[in-house]
Amino acid sequence: MRFDVLTLFPAILNGPLQESILQRAIDSGRLVVAAHNIRDYATDKHHVTDDVPYGGGGGMVMKPEPIFAAVKAVLADVPSARPPIILMTPQGRRFTQAVARELAQHERMVLICGRYEGVDERVREFLATDEISIGDYVLTGGELAALVVIDAVTRLLPGVLGDPGATLDDSHSDGLLEYPHYTRPPNFQGHAVPEVLLSGHHAQVERWRREQSLRRTWERRPDLLALANLSLADREFLARLTREGELTD
Ligand code: 6GU
Repeated sequence: MRFDVLTLFPAILNGPLQESILQRAIDSGRLVVAAHNIRDYATDKHHVTDDVPYGGGGGMVMKPEPIFAAVKAVLADVPSARPPIILMTPQGRRFTQAVARELAQHERMVLICGRYEGVDERVREFLATDEISIGDYVLTGGELAALVVIDAVTRLLPGVLGDPGATLDDSHSDGLLEYPHYTRPPNFQGHAVPEVLLSGHHAQVERWRREQSLRRTWERRPDLLALANLSLADREFLARLTREGELTD
């Protein structure tokens, strides 16, 4: 997987790519992140990348020419199949695990990081093929959001996590939050690990985890249940939770 990241602040990307799993993915050749400074594609003497907004008002707007030039240069060597050109913006479609899985199907993509008050609308209209937001809050720029996308997509690539099944139980992978985890010691400061996990009964452990997953989602993110993949047993368990909830109210 190759990400070409267009930014005015390429150094922001360095730290997270130099540690742990992302670093390993780069070392093993499964991940390439090429940061491109948009400023290098401004052709005027002072390499100006922003300008005042037409119509007045505060703030600056990122100029279209350097961004178009940067994308053209970055994709110059790409034959026909055009990779996604994604504008990182709080106005984009919400980034979810489903979007991460969708992006992981591509071989490469371009991430454009906006700064200042915004990016000239013509970038959105005539250059970007997609727009992504990582949530309903405003960041100072798209760089941290781009790193979030790179991280979430990279861990889905074959061979990046040691265990090929490692992402199957992830929170959100089947529309539910994940069950709780415990490791040694069996009793920590008087707090015991749930007995069933020490029992060695694989089927009982699986059932406990599923019910914990359902209970957590029901308690914390009931909005997710409407879209989750639920069995008849799952639905019966949730109905029981709801009845118990009504009894204790
Ligand atoms: Cl992609 N960019 C900015 N600036 N803020 C955000 C965002 C992106 N996603 C959520 N907030």
